[in-house]
Amino acid sequence: MRAAPIYASLHLYMTCQTHRSRGSGEGRLSVTTQLPPDIDKLFSQRSNRHGQAAFTNPRNIGDRIALSAGYPDPSSMPKSDMAESMRLGLERDGELALQYGANRGYDRLLEQLQVKLKRDQGIECTEDELLIVGGAGQGLGLIADAFCDPGDVVISEEPTWMGAVRHFRGIGVDVEPVRVDDKGTSIDELKASVERLESEGRRPKLIYMIPNFQNPIGVTTTLERRKEIIDLAKTHMIPIIEDDAYSDLRYRGDKLPTMYELDDSGMVIYLSTFSKIIGAGLRLGWIVAHPRFISAFAALKHEGGTSPFVSAAVTEFCASGTLVEHIGELRKVYGGRHAAMIKALQAHMPDGVSWSDPEGGFFVWVTLPDGISVGDVTPTLKDAGVDVSPGTQFYFHGGGDNAIRLSFSFANEARIETGVKALAEAIEAAAARG
Ligand SMILES: Cc1ncc(COP(=O)(O)O)c(C=O)c1O
Repeated sequence: MRAAPIYASLHLYMTCQTHRSRGSGEGRLSVTTQLPPDIDKLFSQRSNRHGQAAFTNPRNIGDRIALSAGYPDPSSMPKSDMAESMRLGLERDGELALQYGANRGYDRLLEQLQVKLKRDQGIECTEDELLIVGGAGQGLGLIADAFCDPGDVVISEEPTWMGAVRHFRGIGVDVEPVRVDDKGTSIDELKASVERLESEGRRPKLIYMIPNFQNPIGVTTTLERRKEIIDLAKTHMIPIIEDDAYSDLRYRGDKLPTMYELDDSGMVIYLSTFSKIIGAGLRLGWIVAHPRFISAFAALKHEGGTSPFVSAAVTEFCASGTLVEHIGELRKVYGGRHAAMIKALQAHMPDGVSWSDPEGGFFVWVTLPDGISVGDVTPTLKDAGVDVSPGTQFYFHGGGDNAIRLSFSFANEARIETGVKALAEAIEAAAARG
């Protein structure tokens, strides 16, 4: 049998390497081992689309003022309550908490989730409509894998959560972006996109949106828009992913019904997480959807039930009432930080800069003055010890060069003020340079 060229060249290369290693008496692989230059050909197209990992570590943030990632507040982590919940979880159900899990998720947590969803989101669901996943990020991957093949079209809000940008890019779908305005997902653009794509014989496979405190813009999709989008999805049979990672963290204004609650067609797939309301280290989230969808997602979850151990602890955390109290405390902390960020922007930003003022969530979207781009300010900011997220990270096909996402979740109020002031100075310096 004739070897494919890549394998032939690799075989030849490895043979030479092995001989050389043996000759030098070493004979083992090391990090300095040179791989053949065409090594990328070994990887799948999908892996090559994803590229290589940027290995991040929150420990390395150190003293930097991190207004970049949407990390939860370190000083609000419920360490002792979680320790107690873990102890209780093991005492009550240790044999199952340390066993392989049921593939829908740990049953006692499913019960607690049903209570939480009804109380906080107005969603009444049965166990058949639920799947516990390793965070909303994993959930999005399962949903996308269940519906999409490479070359399919997906409609997404743009700008949007960078995790979604990476997921959709990685699976090789064509993303049709839809603008987000001050009322949320643009319904006119959405309708026009669906109609045009259908006329080209390309029915969109999914619509991805973040209706509450959208990441990165911060806007909330209005009730009227939510209803119109559901009607559109129903008429054209396009499932909507309602990514609701932040809805418990509202600092002002009235809660709106979830799209899942408003829908009667089965086309809405609700996705959320404990990352922002307990701790991202739990790696625990959930999907609520029609049982037919849930069983398709669960079938793709080859590692089986998501961590029963963590789920047992979180079950106790919910059942004791600690979750409700904790969310109340987080609203105060993040509400204070949101106000501090808006105040700092008002106090320091030069003319020509504008920003969003979200009713909840973690993010403010800052638009730079005409003629100034992200690359003009980030080097100065980096030297000042301040990290922000360039707007470009939130676009599928380019854009966002005149915008920055600021997160107010991780840094405390004093550091937010220092970071925003540094950003204002970096913008002024860029304007002075022309
Ligand atoms: C909109 C949105 N969805 C999902 C996630 C990821 O959630 P998880 O930590 O549960 O994977 C994030 C995290 O930043 C997010 O902003």
